[in-house]
Amino acid sequence: MQSTDIRRSFLEFFAARGHKIVPSASLVPDPSLGLLFTNAGMNAFIPYFLNPGSSPHPRMADTQRCLRAGGKHNDLEDVGFDGYHHTFFEMLGNWSFGDYFKEKAIRWAWELLVQHWHFPKERLYATVYRPGKDEPASFDQEAHTIWGSLFETEGLDADEHVLCFGEKENFWSMGETGPCGPCSEIHIDLTPEGNTRGKLVNRGDPRCIEIWNLVFMQFNRDRDGRLTALPQKCVDTGMGLERVAGILASTENFSRWDRIPSNYDSDLFKNIFQKISEMSGHHYGGTFATNRREQLGEDHMRDFAFRVIADHLRALCFAIGDGIYPRNDGRGYVLRRILRRAVFFGRRLRLPEEFLAKLIPTVVDKMEGAFPQLREHQGLMEKIISSEESQFEAILDRGMVLFEDVCRSVKDGIFPGDQAFRLHDTYGFPFDLTCLLAESKGFAVGRARFEAEMQKQQSRARQNQKKDEICDASYKSHEVSGASSESRSSFFDQTIFCGYEELSTMATVKSSPWSGASPENGGQVRDLRIVVNQTPFYAEGGGQIGDTGTLTFIEGNENIRGKTLKVLKTTRNSSGQIEHHIDGSDATISDIIASGKLEYLYEKVELKVDEPRRWAIERHHTATHLLQAALRDILGKHVQQAGSSVTDQGIHFDFIHFEPVSLAMRDKIEEKIQDWILSNQKVKCFETDFDKIPKNCIALFNEKYGDEVRVVEIEGISTELCGGCHVRSLGEIGTFKIISESAISSGVRRIGAVAGKVAHKWFQEQVKVLQYLSQKFSVKNEDLPEKIDQLCGQLSRLETELRSHRHDKEKQIMESLCGQAETYGQDSQLLCVHVDGREPRELRALATSLLRRLKNGVVFLLATAPDDQTYHTALALAPVWIERGFQAQQCLGKIIEKWNGKCGGKHDLAMGGGISVLSASPQKILDSCRSDMKSLFSSS
Ligand code: SER
Repeated sequence: MQSTDIRRSFLEFFAARGHKIVPSASLVPDPSLGLLFTNAGMNAFIPYFLNPGSSPHPRMADTQRCLRAGGKHNDLEDVGFDGYHHTFFEMLGNWSFGDYFKEKAIRWAWELLVQHWHFPKERLYATVYRPGKDEPASFDQEAHTIWGSLFETEGLDADEHVLCFGEKENFWSMGETGPCGPCSEIHIDLTPEGNTRGKLVNRGDPRCIEIWNLVFMQFNRDRDGRLTALPQKCVDTGMGLERVAGILASTENFSRWDRIPSNYDSDLFKNIFQKISEMSGHHYGGTFATNRREQLGEDHMRDFAFRVIADHLRALCFAIGDGIYPRNDGRGYVLRRILRRAVFFGRRLRLPEEFLAKLIPTVVDKMEGAFPQLREHQGLMEKIISSEESQFEAILDRGMVLFEDVCRSVKDGIFPGDQAFRLHDTYGFPFDLTCLLAESKGFAVGRARFEAEMQKQQSRARQNQKKDEICDASYKSHEVSGASSESRSSFFDQTIFCGYEELSTMATVKSSPWSGASPENGGQVRDLRIVVNQTPFYAEGGGQIGDTGTLTFIEGNENIRGKTLKVLKTTRNSSGQIEHHIDGSDATISDIIASGKLEYLYEKVELKVDEPRRWAIERHHTATHLLQAALRDILGKHVQQAGSSVTDQGIHFDFIHFEPVSLAMRDKIEEKIQDWILSNQKVKCFETDFDKIPKNCIALFNEKYGDEVRVVEIEGISTELCGGCHVRSLGEIGTFKIISESAISSGVRRIGAVAGKVAHKWFQEQVKVLQYLSQKFSVKNEDLPEKIDQLCGQLSRLETELRSHRHDKEKQIMESLCGQAETYGQDSQLLCVHVDGREPRELRALATSLLRRLKNGVVFLLATAPDDQTYHTALALAPVWIERGFQAQQCLGKIIEKWNGKCGGKHDLAMGGGISVLSASPQKILDSCRSDMKSLFSSS
């Protein structure tokens, strides 16, 4: 049986036993699970375990794509060492939601393995949960009894074949919280004789591995680690398709047991290996090192590299197919690490550049039957992977040089952790690669120091982020915390935000404006911030700039009553209060100080947002949502927001995309958005529970949302979680224009755009330029392109003529200059002339070309600088003079010394300057220099 038959046979077996066959879920799990990747078949079914009644079917079966490269289940660093760990794999599973339980699950597993697939029963072992000290729940007597009777019925010794283990091996949970329960695993003895009598089970020995895990879901674990019983008992089983396919392939359907079985023997990897061989000239030999720490020999390293590349390639294809792209954070970061590891191992096999992208078809061809979406995304995979590969190639080149440098200074066999950190942080060289390389040289890596440096950096990053939040109203990437109910609504501790509905309000001052700052410089207060009980001012966040406006004292101290302060910006402090930043040089502040009443809590103030500015911000913010929707419609669903900045002046929108957006595409995007604007559709903003957000709602993975969120919905066009300010209907935006498009980093593009009045102004400016040009050239606007083409043609013809004219002139000059050379000694020529108005650069070129025309020449040039203030000089020597021991910079130094000149240069050519034109006439200097040179060179 090959992988396709195994998959089909599994699903048919369970379909025949009343299971509904369901498709695999995405590798991107539901955000509420807090997982990086779908790491087990059961992820998608969690709601059914918690509430079996909600399941559309009590029995299901599927093959689920899984990725274990982060979090609790992380196999990334094990891949390649053995033949059965993977980052990406398929998990075949059957499920009962409050329907059958242990008896059926165990008996069906046995029936499928032994009767249908003919696994040799005497080589099978079952494990059962027996808690150790302080471990949860109780001994799984029921499973133990069922397994015992099964083995005995088959004539096998139950005591030998049924083994008990504790929590680590036999109590399954997906993460720290959620449905969990005792499990029974089925292991197979793959040794040549098959007579280890269970001694290798759970010993990390590749000759005895787990093939199927049957989890009996009985509990839900809460945040405090407490277990409560699920409403009904459920079954979750998971069998690694690659393992079964590997065992069948390695043993040739159980007919030979003389080699170490490996998943990589299966057909799933065959065509990938073939293509790697074609490209590298190496062949996979299926060898394994016995000890991870040993220096890998050539064969081991080669086979290790084959395995890593093949495994990682599959992970990359499937992840990209599910919309996960390499990034610097979150799951995208893990993907980038996977890709970089693969590229690194590609080098080991001397694979050509961008080899990974070339391998993609081998995965798509093999897997598209079961996962048709792969073919659909193949083009995108190729673009993403090849661009990431070429970027990392450069990093790797640099990183390897630095790595070797550090290795040379390694003492006591420890590769220093701070150097590993420097490689990672400054040069993007992955830590796991440093470890691999260092370990392959027999060095240990100072991991503790590395971790300490990482932590320092993280805390620096957090501090900077805080500073940003308070001081900087500029560009914010990825910040949509404003979408959570906490910031959205109404309360930031004491500050109620009422600015979605109204732009002015009465309020009372909550904290003295001097808090955190002190009056100084004769009554000047810097950085004055006022907090009130409620405000219509939006505090910078979620990519949207904060409001500006005014704050007027209505009641309170008579010195300040009726006075108005300007609010320059609005931010949120770390306790969530909204702070209005006041211009510290405002004259009113001196009045407040002069009044001697520094404490004036509960003053009544009127707050007014600068309305036209806020409307402009709203137009731009809604336009950003339209832009994201249009990009996804036109460029593809891979487009994801990677950051945004919304101000009254325009927007920047960063998004994942792997090539420039052409002008034609930009036109299409603009047209689509303009049509939406003209449709004048309503923009609906509402709050809801996080788990009730509408389908297709765009939320950002890296964000933590509160239980309640704010949804901004433009029906049929866009639905996003967003805490920002928006127009009420699209017509208010007026008009929209993209004004720039550029690359931000690998795979991230930025569009700059304007809307409303700013766009109108932009058009006016463009028209002004056109009008200027049409007047200048005396043609109509529409004839400008033709006119400009015509003029450019003329210009280039004239330039050509001019060049040839210059060339002729230069030739004449050269000839006349060369004519002035004196024969010197027997076989040399000395040229000593004055030229006008040349810059040093031109003088140097002239000296070089004159030297080329002379025989064993010495060329000395004196030039009056274009500013007529100083002379420049140049001295060029033919090789023969250098051979005789002369050096141009020394000679020139001597010659011009008496004129206070200074010089620098090399043996063959030196440049000098600093001689004032007032010191002597050119002729006088030339004469003197000529005679100095003659005496200098005659000394040879
Ligand atoms: N959830 C279990 C596992 O992942 C069985 O599917 O091993």
